[in-house]
Amino acid sequence: MSIAILFDQKNPEPWVKLLEEKLPNTSVEVYPSIKEPEQVTFAVCWKPEKDALSQFPNLKVVQSIGAGVDHIFKSQQLSDSVQVCRIIDSQLTQDLYEYVLTGLMSYLRDFSKYFNDQLTRTWKPKRYQTIGQTTVTVLGLGSIGAFIAKELAEIGFNVRGWSKNPKKIAGVQTYKQDQLTVALQQSDVLVNVLPLTPDTEDILNSQTMSLLNPGGYMINVGRGAHLVENDLMELIESGQLSGALLDVFRTEPLPGQHPFWNHPKITITPHVASITTLTNAVDIVVENWNRHLHSKKLLHEVSVIQGY
Ligand code: GLV
Repeated sequence: MSIAILFDQKNPEPWVKLLEEKLPNTSVEVYPSIKEPEQVTFAVCWKPEKDALSQFPNLKVVQSIGAGVDHIFKSQQLSDSVQVCRIIDSQLTQDLYEYVLTGLMSYLRDFSKYFNDQLTRTWKPKRYQTIGQTTVTVLGLGSIGAFIAKELAEIGFNVRGWSKNPKKIAGVQTYKQDQLTVALQQSDVLVNVLPLTPDTEDILNSQTMSLLNPGGYMINVGRGAHLVENDLMELIESGQLSGALLDVFRTEPLPGQHPFWNHPKITITPHVASITTLTNAVDIVVENWNRHLHSKKLLHEVSVIQGY
């Protein structure tokens, strides 16, 4: 039994080093240089190449090294006997919350407007909005979304949360699947933390985003394919939305000619809202590897049927 690492846009070397330190008797190989594919029972993945896992006939566990697993489901055909796990890490969750909070405060205090005004030496104060006057709707109440919603409520935002399955969170008004419209109506900011599945693809479109209050704002830390990009541009052009903060894109890296790059009301960051901490994630991988060896219940397994 051995471990294979399949990474795109991420250096596997520190992972191999740490895994070899913690599992000295286990073979850890990096795709595509796998000597004995039939030995691989456990694959550690970040955006694996299309169908790359099909070369491992004895594969049992696919471990994503991120919070999301869409990169696995969209690129691989997995047999029913394969279990898929993700990373749930308190540092990753905290980092995502801090990113969202930074975006919210920048929106409330108009930092991008003042940044642009400074370039033209324009002194033009704008009335600002306080935390207590602001309603935020968080889409997706898994471990990360629920934490973000709860923390924002604790510091005084008026918070709503929407998820497929009903959830209860202290201080947060929650809505279930068929209540998306009411969750978004009269809200100022939409924060998207949903997993990407066929049901949630394109969920950020002109119909949903225009339910926000005029001048509303959008923060997308879910996935690029949640957002219909042209709809966002049109809503910003028409003034219906005042802007957006985007960390994820349909194509990453964002192509050089993409109109988001130089849009004065769109702030983009290169998928850095939260990044898996190597040591924390390796601990989860090692724990799951040991559980796999002893046929125990794995940590953070996702539903292959639901896709998250
Ligand atoms: C990042 O996007 C992740 O899935 O952890």
